[in-house]
Amino acid sequence: MRKKIVAGNWKMHKTGQEARDLFAVIGKMPFDHEKTTVVVLPPSIYLSVFAAMEKKQGLYLGAQNSYPVKEGAYTGEVSAYMLNSLGVEYCLVGHSERRKYFHETDTGCLEKVKVVLEQQMIPVLCVGEELQVREADKHFDHVKKQVLAATEGLSNTDMKRVVIAYEPVWAIGTGKTASTQQASEMHTFIRQLIHEKFDALVSSAVHILYGGSVNENNARELMSARDIDGVLVGGASLKADSFAKIIAAAE
Ligand code: PGA
Repeated sequence: MRKKIVAGNWKMHKTGQEARDLFAVIGKMPFDHEKTTVVVLPPSIYLSVFAAMEKKQGLYLGAQNSYPVKEGAYTGEVSAYMLNSLGVEYCLVGHSERRKYFHETDTGCLEKVKVVLEQQMIPVLCVGEELQVREADKHFDHVKKQVLAATEGLSNTDMKRVVIAYEPVWAIGTGKTASTQQASEMHTFIRQLIHEKFDALVSSAVHILYGGSVNENNARELMSARDIDGVLVGGASLKADSFAKIIAAAE
């Protein structure tokens, strides 16, 4: 049985004080860690602060990005090696905003996935199609290409640890959530793809999250679908009460 994962991607939001206040509230939220994993992904500047704060069992820290080199002359970047040294356990790879504004490619995503795994952290590989791709009925091909390219050559053991987040770009920050059926059929497709490329044990272990305008009203239905193992939440993770309701919906 796969545990549900509820991950809050804060993107570039919150001052230092606001961030500490919200994390302190999340750190006390009740949930059953045997059934649910909660991950908070704040701007990286806050990770060391949160690492030192009190948190419930089952609540983990994640980074929104990392640079795939251990250390060196890369001004402005943060490496997976550094994140691991702070106790950060998850790291997003290839979020659509990174692909759009920072020109991240599938090959670059593979490099990051490998380095995050080497650092004993869990990569959350984000994939998803733009609106015009869905309208052209090419969304399955598009997601297949993204998933295969960013997992090329991984061992079965490593692949089991990868989390995939299906986030249709047209649903991110738009208030337009994919229907449970649209999300569900893509999740089943991705799991089948992993089965074909790896094996049945790997495909049944891999967590596949849905992201894109998830809120307290749609989270429960989305997570009730067989292949939807949790949610990656943007906007609604910035408000303690909404995030608490989404966590409760996972259980
Ligand atoms: P949203 O963002 O929930 O605000 O749509 C999701 C994401 O980009 O991870």
